[in-house]
Amino acid sequence: MVFTSGATEANNLALKGVAEAALVQGDRSAVAGRRRLLSLVSEHRAVLDPLRYLERHGFPLTLLPVGSDGLLDPQRLAEALGDDVLLVSVMAANNEIGVLQPLEAVAGLCRRHGALLHVDAAQAAGHIPLAMAELGADLLSLSGHKCFGPAGVGALLVREGVPLAPQLHGGGQEGGRRAGSVPVPLVVGLGAALNLAITDLEQRAARLGACATGSGLVWRRSAAFSATAPPARAWPTTST
Ligand SMILES: Cc1ncc(COP(=O)(O)O)c(C=O)c1O
Repeated sequence: MVFTSGATEANNLALKGVAEAALVQGDRSAVAGRRRLLSLVSEHRAVLDPLRYLERHGFPLTLLPVGSDGLLDPQRLAEALGDDVLLVSVMAANNEIGVLQPLEAVAGLCRRHGALLHVDAAQAAGHIPLAMAELGADLLSLSGHKCFGPAGVGALLVREGVPLAPQLHGGGQEGGRRAGSVPVPLVVGLGAALNLAITDLEQRAARLGACATGSGLVWRRSAAFSATAPPARAWPTTST
């Protein structure tokens, strides 16, 4: 776990860190020769903007469409994947309409094609059960102020062995992956918030899910996706 200033920094570290490691480690890397990046049109700007930055620096980018319900059709991903794909970035819960992307199917496809999977879980962590290992994600971003913790802290979870180049250089903190003194009070606050969250996670997730789909909340907020029906799997997010 690498502590960051929030999910924006965690996403930047994940995406740029993997891309740079693939460049620098060249043939020695598990992702040697791979450059293409895949993601969704409906990702948060904290994912889209670093991806577009990377596109300008030689990493071809494909943004997959989502359906009228805001969900990725895994078949679309299967068609886009190939042995040139370095990394796929798919959010867990959408910040605007709350839909939960089919991460298990996404992870299975990434594994089959040897691509790394990054999950922006800023709107999901602390609200729905989310085990990185069970999901099969290689990198996962979270944010303190989205799970009732303090603003100014977040984290990037990195599976062991995933090549990641630091994006902040300095005092070698966080195992050399993110320089800068760790803000201990904020990290303690994040830990406390997540500990509180997991005490009744399943019940709360079920209650909020029913609330989101049953109340028509998601339906009303789906205009940007021209939704024709409330999605089956969603939860009310905290903000955009
Ligand atoms: C899905 C998603 N990713 C990333 C972010 C950015 O998080 P932070 O404010 O911690 O940088 C947000 C914030 O709203 C978000 O909703």
